[in-house]
Amino acid sequence: MHKIIHLAPSILAADFARLGEQVQEAEANGAELIHIDVMDGQFVPNISMGKMVVEAVRRVTHLPLDVHLMIVQPAQHIEAFAHAGADRITVHYEADHHLHRTLMAIKALGCMAGVAINPHTSALTLEAILPFVDQVIVMTVNPGFGGQEFIPEMMSKVAEIHAMIGNLRRHIDLEVDGGINAQTAMSAAQAGANILVVGSAVFNPNFSVAEGMARLKKALTTTTP
Ligand code: DX5
Ligand code: ZN
Repeated sequence: MHKIIHLAPSILAADFARLGEQVQEAEANGAELIHIDVMDGQFVPNISMGKMVVEAVRRVTHLPLDVHLMIVQPAQHIEAFAHAGADRITVHYEADHHLHRTLMAIKALGCMAGVAINPHTSALTLEAILPFVDQVIVMTVNPGFGGQEFIPEMMSKVAEIHAMIGNLRRHIDLEVDGGINAQTAMSAAQAGANILVVGSAVFNPNFSVAEGMARLKKALTTTTP
């Protein structure tokens, strides 16, 4: 594996009483982005965090903040998240009727603009919008909760999108999100993902952030499973 794979720990699984410390431990152990999951209880069944958490994380790390909006009508909230310190804002394809307008607005706010797709949304759906995006998030679980099981069937979709991006001859980050751990990370990287979101495999009461990061880095450097 020669491609550089970036790890983006998702704070959804972090110990919120020690959030600053945990984010800094992730940064010190090779995290390259901090992934922040915003859930509204409508687009997904769960409610998580809002812009105050983005502001708080912004104060404790220099890493880019990768804000994943799992909310309806995302366009109404992008300005607030950009001002809170987001570097990347990703909205769901399934949650926005005017995706192109939203992506342009995200870029106008000085952020990278991403589109996320649920497991039921096909790669080809992205064809018309791909020239306008800086990153694609392929959900490898149904969004809403951390700690769910990776859906391996999504890997062919990642490979398809990887090929579509190759045809555009422009760099677009391809991120996978959900169920990534030391067992699944390599298959996602081999399918073409260059950013791996990792929640419970990094922030977990059973081991330290440093141990979780080390396990993932090791899994990505060992050869083909
Ligand atoms: C799921 C979120 C993910 C989640 C991943 O809806 O978008 O970012 O935090 O958690 P794990 O890695 O535990 O599946
Ligand atoms: Zn996410």
